Amino acid sequence: MLIRKPSDIRSSEITSETNYLNRRDFIRAGAIAGGSIISSGAIGAIVPDSRLAPLTNIAKSPLSTSEMLNSFEDISTYNNFYEFGLQKGDPVVNAENFKPRPWSIKVSGHAEKTGVIDFDDFMKPFDLEERIYRMRCVEAWSMVIPWVGISLADVVKHFQPTSKAQYVAFETLEDRERMPGQKGWSLDWPYREGLTIAEAINPLTILAVGLYGNAIPNQNGAPIRLVVPWKYGFKGIKSIVGIKFMSSQPQTSWNMANPSEYGFYANVNPEVDHPRWSQARERRIGGGIFDKKRKTLMFNGYGEQVAHLYKDLNLRRNF
Ligand code: MTE
Repeated sequence: MLIRKPSDIRSSEITSETNYLNRRDFIRAGAIAGGSIISSGAIGAIVPDSRLAPLTNIAKSPLSTSEMLNSFEDISTYNNFYEFGLQKGDPVVNAENFKPRPWSIKVSGHAEKTGVIDFDDFMKPFDLEERIYRMRCVEAWSMVIPWVGISLADVVKHFQPTSKAQYVAFETLEDRERMPGQKGWSLDWPYREGLTIAEAINPLTILAVGLYGNAIPNQNGAPIRLVVPWKYGFKGIKSIVGIKFMSSQPQTSWNMANPSEYGFYANVNPEVDHPRWSQARERRIGGGIFDKKRKTLMFNGYGEQVAHLYKDLNLRRNF
């Protein structure tokens, strides 16, 4: 992961607190009016309309946080998505013409039901929910994001894994033409991630297909990406085309690239520093220049829901 320290971030990327609050009110007003926030002004210019179909029948989740949301602009312009460039501002520009349709997902491995499924058919059995999650990046910044998604536990149940399935592996599309960042050297493509079955069926884990009530923007992982809020953001693999039920621990992109810095588990653990910087505190993106860094919480504050998954694991060794 290319890292920019908070001190490296251009002042033009930092929103003043007043603007931030105004923007939030504007976004909330748009959401309340049922209108698309995207159709207005500057934000419309950075995300083509075709990607932003409003999503309907979205239930509210009791698992959402009530913390202040990050703006759509924060969430959709400050991204890591190496298939579209290495800098935070690259994906919004380079993914603009990416077409996440037609799209299919290959489900394979140790499961009763497998096959290649068209994205719209894949989605049919599942209910959409809004999940407002605190997200923590390994680069020591955080955001609060109103995802719209489906429960990964429901997806796992639907495909009926056999008793051999101990892990779920995910793969991103590999297509050098549609994802120009794959032409250069950075990661070993396709991007890969994995969870234990227990992590995959935890009620917090979702596959997100939307943001702020609309279809998810390309740069955030259209048409479908993983969201695991108690882990570092790099577990949230984007633009998924493969889901495989496996008996052994799958390879994961950042672990393959740099095993001493990025482990398989990637739990937010403020007590284990990244080898090159501390994880004790974090900067909330969009918080304004006077916003103090906040203390990072174990499991990103989701310990009550997930600590039991790791009770027999040494979280210093299994980082
Ligand atoms: N998925 C793919 N396919 N490629 C990537 O480069 N980057 C990861 C993760 N998923 C990445 C990816 C990293 S490092 C982070 S922090 C999150 O996506 C960022 O998600 P966001 O841009 O929606 O905040």
